[in-house]
Amino acid sequence: MADDNLSRLDAESLWHPLTQHQGIEASPPRFIERGEGCYLYDADGNRFYDAVSGLWCVNVGHGREELAQVAAEQMKKLSYVPGTMSHEPGVRLAAKLVELLGYPARVYYSNSGSEANEAAFKMARQYQVQRTGIETSGGQGRYKIIARHRGYHGCTLGALSATGNWERRHGYEPLVPGFVFTDAPDPYRGVDRCAEKLEETILREGANSVAAFITETIVAGGGLLFPPDDYLPAVREICTKYGVLLIIDEVVTGFGRTGKMFAHQHWGVKPDIITMAKGIASGYMPLAATVASEEVFRAFDGTPASHRHFRHVNTFGGHPVSTAVGLENLAIIEREGLVERVADSGRSLMARLEKLYSHPNVGDVRGKGLLFGIELVADKVSKQPAPADRVAAVLAGCAKRGVIIGRTAETSPGQGNILIMAPPFVSTEAEFELLAASLDESLSEAFSDVAAA
Ligand SMILES: Cc1ncc(COP(=O)(O)O)c(C=O)c1O
Repeated sequence: MADDNLSRLDAESLWHPLTQHQGIEASPPRFIERGEGCYLYDADGNRFYDAVSGLWCVNVGHGREELAQVAAEQMKKLSYVPGTMSHEPGVRLAAKLVELLGYPARVYYSNSGSEANEAAFKMARQYQVQRTGIETSGGQGRYKIIARHRGYHGCTLGALSATGNWERRHGYEPLVPGFVFTDAPDPYRGVDRCAEKLEETILREGANSVAAFITETIVAGGGLLFPPDDYLPAVREICTKYGVLLIIDEVVTGFGRTGKMFAHQHWGVKPDIITMAKGIASGYMPLAATVASEEVFRAFDGTPASHRHFRHVNTFGGHPVSTAVGLENLAIIEREGLVERVADSGRSLMARLEKLYSHPNVGDVRGKGLLFGIELVADKVSKQPAPADRVAAVLAGCAKRGVIIGRTAETSPGQGNILIMAPPFVSTEAEFELLAASLDESLSEAFSDVAAA
């Protein structure tokens, strides 16, 4: 419990995201006082293994002294300049990102994954106008963005328009025109042929109206959907064939989460635009980037009067403190071999989680690196999603045992049935054991009457 005064101020003044405030007094938001390594500590000294790394972002773990120091030093040296000027950490981080991607590219900074995707959509539209010479203002030319059902790209109106998630969209519609949807592969539920479906969508819409296709490498918040290995390479080919830019959203999967620095590197594809946020600074500072291939970047060449430059700005994008922290975060990841560690420890955690198949309500256990989803079902034959109260009971059971996990949003009504795990990269076998044991016990508890029936 926070002290009474803080609890009162919270109740009177804060509007929490994704939170129903009516009746909140019965279970107020967990009040966290500090974080260290893989653990969060509440005001009563209870500790919780943070098995989702905040919102899948605190990849190097909480409370890193070296990141705090870099931030303080940068703040004292240079606290702010606009992105139209240059500064050392911004330049060095951009060069580092390009090195990690392994191909010539340009880094455009912003502050959040949503903003990174907004920038990507605007880049794609302007690129196509300048490549084809056809203005899109009257609804001609290449302005459409194809996105995927169950994909999540952010909460701002453009990013939400590319989001195939009922829970996040409803009540905010109509959204931005020009966004069209196709399927994302879901091997567990037999949603397949998705590259072909993308091609069909491009043809149905008319290739000459399509600017870009946006895809997460792995659907994260919409269900932890891992594509078959031939999906992204086929998507790359189709986009190239029809002159459609391929935007890959690595906001969750970037910076080692899946056991490679970027998840698209598992499949050897080169995106035209890639968006990144979260793990870029391990959540210590807000930072995001939209990285365009040199070919896309060059389409913006022209005289100042031609207005072909990217006419987009945000006050805090590429902030000196954020980029300094991002740079040090990447140095930590490299120094401590964390990407390799994720690949190894991911296999070990998967072996533990697969034992949960013994539960009648565990339909599917899937993962890559340290990114996992467990799909809960009413029964394994019908695969009917488990009811929301049971899923909530599993989360509560884990919290009671000192472990924080997440669950997906309802991409369709009633479909928020997938548990999320994205542990900090520095987790040990002892923490994996704690996580697996907590899940095992919480599943038994949450479904005890069902199992008996
Ligand atoms: C895949 C993906 N893209 C974009 C976003 C939006 O990022 P932000 O919340 O930083 O705006 C998220 C957030 O969870 C995400 O999961």
